[in-house]
Amino acid sequence: MAVIAKHCPDVRVTVADINAERVRAWQSGTPPIYEPGLAEVLKVGLGRNLHFTGDVESAIADADLIFVSVNTPTKTFGQGAGRAADLQYWEKTARSILQHARGQTVVVEKSTLPVRTAEAMERIFKNGEAGKRFEVLSNPEFLAEGTAMADLESPDRVLIGGAETPSGQAAISKLVEIYAHWVPREKILTTNVWSAELSKLAANAFLAQRVSSINAISAICESTGADVLEVARAIGTDHRIGGQFLRAGVGFGGSCFQKDILNLVYLCEHYGLSEVARYWESVVTMNQYQKERFVQRMIRAMFNTLAGKRIAIFGFAFKAYTGDTRESPAIQVCRELLAEHAHVCVTDPQALEGARHDLADVSDRVTFEPDPYAAARGAHAIALLTDWSEYRELDYARILEGMEQPAFLFDGRNLLDPDELRRIGFNVYPIGRPDRTRL
Ligand code: UDX
Repeated sequence: MAVIAKHCPDVRVTVADINAERVRAWQSGTPPIYEPGLAEVLKVGLGRNLHFTGDVESAIADADLIFVSVNTPTKTFGQGAGRAADLQYWEKTARSILQHARGQTVVVEKSTLPVRTAEAMERIFKNGEAGKRFEVLSNPEFLAEGTAMADLESPDRVLIGGAETPSGQAAISKLVEIYAHWVPREKILTTNVWSAELSKLAANAFLAQRVSSINAISAICESTGADVLEVARAIGTDHRIGGQFLRAGVGFGGSCFQKDILNLVYLCEHYGLSEVARYWESVVTMNQYQKERFVQRMIRAMFNTLAGKRIAIFGFAFKAYTGDTRESPAIQVCRELLAEHAHVCVTDPQALEGARHDLADVSDRVTFEPDPYAAARGAHAIALLTDWSEYRELDYARILEGMEQPAFLFDGRNLLDPDELRRIGFNVYPIGRPDRTRL
């Protein structure tokens, strides 16, 4: 919304949220989340055409277009638990819109939703009083955290799905006009509502599938002596495959990939497509296996016991340049290390608060340390789990001096130079690459 406000000075953008504390933080110009470049864009709109409010009802009543961006987590209860999307917040919002909207309102699905949600919403909206008219559009968001501002400034495409009726097409045009302020027309794709909803799930499933595919190859590399970086380069130069999203690692995390795939799996099951469901489910299974495999390799390398050993975790965020820890592989890795009776010390430049929250139930056995040098002091091993570039700049000779010997380094992101670290004195275990050990 900050980017829309920046590029559309003629549009008044009001962001409404029930969390008063967050509203205050946004109003103050200091975003309550870490996202590079966001604060600058926020300042452009604040006090001009970008407003934040806790008064959701008035915001609804005043709007011509409403973007609904509420949380749609995986359901934790009842039918479809663990797979289907929990739509309770979406439905509450829809009912609130139904009650408070005036005249004609375009409702835009921004949250990632199961296919055919727009249809269900339209049924709710049909119960409105005479004089109120609604049109539902799907406008999924493809930005990635950490690069959100660049992704929004020059998106690969903007996708808008709407009904094929004249009023549906008119609503689409309204939204196209907004994006056309800064996005070239040929990059604004319009489709029917279901295609737009499904495209979002499919895009994330394809991206995650690439990560799981290269991670599966990384397991073969470790067993055979091949090097996954060389394999990724060799296959990525085929222009039909392309070089992106081929970084093997400790597994994908984030609020979207797993949730959206499970959602897709649930959808397939609903339509009786069990082979298709199993196919996509295997992307998540492989991701789970990759995290387990990482810990198994640690145990094996460290003489089959971690009990009483201190392990420094370098990076807890699900990827670099974000403080977000949702579904971060670090959560599972830390829990498995604790199950082996290791002592875990977590360091991260942005995600320590998240880490404290995610490990709250085991916090008596975990320490949190902003300084990576202090985190590694007295440790038997370092497990690098987030690709923060600052971890490349550390003085590893100094780190090694403070560690127990023999010292181990498990690079879960292939971020560091294993030969150099071995030369310094570490026993290095990169992902999908031969070990560099001194033992
Ligand atoms: C993703 C999609 O990229 C984005 O289009 C969608 O809107 C939301 O979901 P995000 O979750 O922010 O974005 O992060 P992304 O950069 O896609 O990374 C997801 C996970 O995959 C991270 O844990 C990352 O470390 C991992 N990853 C990514 C790899 O392990 N290897 C890769 O080659 C790429």
